[in-house]
Amino acid sequence: MAAAQRNACRRLQLPRLSNKIVGMIVTIDGPAGAGKSSAARGVAHRLGFRFLDTGAMYRAVACAALQRGVDLNDGNALAALTAELEIEVTEDQVLLDGQDVSRAIRTSEVTAAVKHVADNPNIRSHLVRLQQRTAHDHHTVTEGRDQGTVAFPNAECKIFLTATPQERARRRQADLEARGETVSVDEVLQQQNLRDQQDAEREVGRMAKAEDAVEVITDGMTASGVIDALEAIVRSKM
Ligand code: DC
Repeated sequence: MAAAQRNACRRLQLPRLSNKIVGMIVTIDGPAGAGKSSAARGVAHRLGFRFLDTGAMYRAVACAALQRGVDLNDGNALAALTAELEIEVTEDQVLLDGQDVSRAIRTSEVTAAVKHVADNPNIRSHLVRLQQRTAHDHHTVTEGRDQGTVAFPNAECKIFLTATPQERARRRQADLEARGETVSVDEVLQQQNLRDQQDAEREVGRMAKAEDAVEVITDGMTASGVIDALEAIVRSKM
């Protein structure tokens, strides 16, 4: 390992606080556009659990890198930046060094840049520790790509939420149209296929269904129907 990389790793050590999990953990993993965020938030609300959006952490780092002009192709510089950042993901806000970046992390610029962050093993291990620490003292519904496999392998309840690529693209296109962005379903599908491939092929933390996860395919289900189904699965594990 090169010296610069070793230093970046060392700087990425978080202070030793307890990550011992005391509450129930529900993990929801799956591809982009499967409706994970609203389903996870909805089921957390029904159960009185905390909701943790882990994609927001990766987005916050990408946002900081863009704001500060850090070279996205320089993995060590990205890791060093991550070590310096104070990232706090709450139920309704994402704070970066105390600044509210909840909207800034959703731009297409950040979406395009986040791959460089999510592919970086040093950043991943740092953010996984942050996820474990954030969830350690609450019943939590946590949502991402690697929550049931890497971050919380001993979670009491694991769900893999997905939908067919066409259905996910159709929903995303409708969302974009509602926000005034005109783009065809085919264009959305192409970008989505690329993201799916990136999420499934990264060397660490790749998106995968945990062996003990329950798979839910949301084609044809309403948003509240998905929440009902997830709530029933979680309650069956309580
Ligand atoms: O779910 P999202 O689109 O907000 O996620 C942003 C990016 O972060 C996406 O490229 C997938 C990646 N991600 C990840 O690698 N691991 C997670 N636990 C959550 C998100």
